Amino acid sequence: MDPQPEAVSKITVPLILERKLRGEKVTCLTAYDYPTARLVDEAGIDMILVGDSLAQVVLGYDSTIPVTLDEMLHHLRAVRRATRRALLIVDLPYGAYHLGEQEALRASIRCLKEGGAEAVKIEGGKKRAALIRRLVDAEIPVMSHIGLTPQSVHSLGGYRVQGKTLESAMGLLADAEAVEDAGAFALVLEGVPRELAAIITGRLNIPTIGIGAGPDCDGQVLVVHDLLGLSFQPRAKFVRSYAHLTDSLRDAFARFRDDVVAGRYPNDAESYHWSPSLREQFEKEVAIKSSGDEFEE
Ligand code: KIV
Repeated sequence: MDPQPEAVSKITVPLILERKLRGEKVTCLTAYDYPTARLVDEAGIDMILVGDSLAQVVLGYDSTIPVTLDEMLHHLRAVRRATRRALLIVDLPYGAYHLGEQEALRASIRCLKEGGAEAVKIEGGKKRAALIRRLVDAEIPVMSHIGLTPQSVHSLGGYRVQGKTLESAMGLLADAEAVEDAGAFALVLEGVPRELAAIITGRLNIPTIGIGAGPDCDGQVLVVHDLLGLSFQPRAKFVRSYAHLTDSLRDAFARFRDDVVAGRYPNDAESYHWSPSLREQFEKEVAIKSSGDEFEE
């Protein structure tokens, strides 16, 4: 009989909210494919985000704007197949929720039904409050995202730290309170000063998940390629790389090339073999066939 699969304590939305009450940190990483998601899940990370950073780190676009809902769903399904314990969240990409509530509902429902997501993330504060309410009414948990919101790169005029003036900081605090009131279960704070993130974290009942927002948030998220050192962009100040995969992979590819060119790969042990008797039989067959061929003309 097959051994029973190891019991996993599934992370759920209520559990993430409880973490805040207990003062326990929440961990989140992005993933876009089966092997990465499997390793992230097995490492005990609480939430996996199929982020629209997919556009840049995997698909090679120069911003998150071009990635489509269908592209997000394709990667979400791969991550779903690998994820047993973590809460699985997907970004609604730019254009999937900007035309109205119906479009946002349709996109979110596809993410849950076709992609197996357990929550969606949308960028924007106060201006998304009504939409968040509508999604939550439709049983769709929403993680909100404010501060440096990459889908607003053109209106922000670049990837700039937000909340550095009194007006902008007050605006972000109002955004945070609005999305909590609307029913978001967590809030990503990206690219904001540590001081502001600490104040927002202290005022909300839902967990704040920081990225470039300092250590006082209730949890932290990183783009997995940044953490792995598998990125071609200059490293942002807040990124800590825990590995240097770009160097390791480049080295592995170059060694493969060198081995093939020099005839060192594959060697005999890396080859399949005939049994000695088959070799003998085959040689006899070939010899008979060759002698028969001589008489055929
Ligand atoms: O798309 C993404 O990876 C994100 C994280 C940076 C929070 O939104």
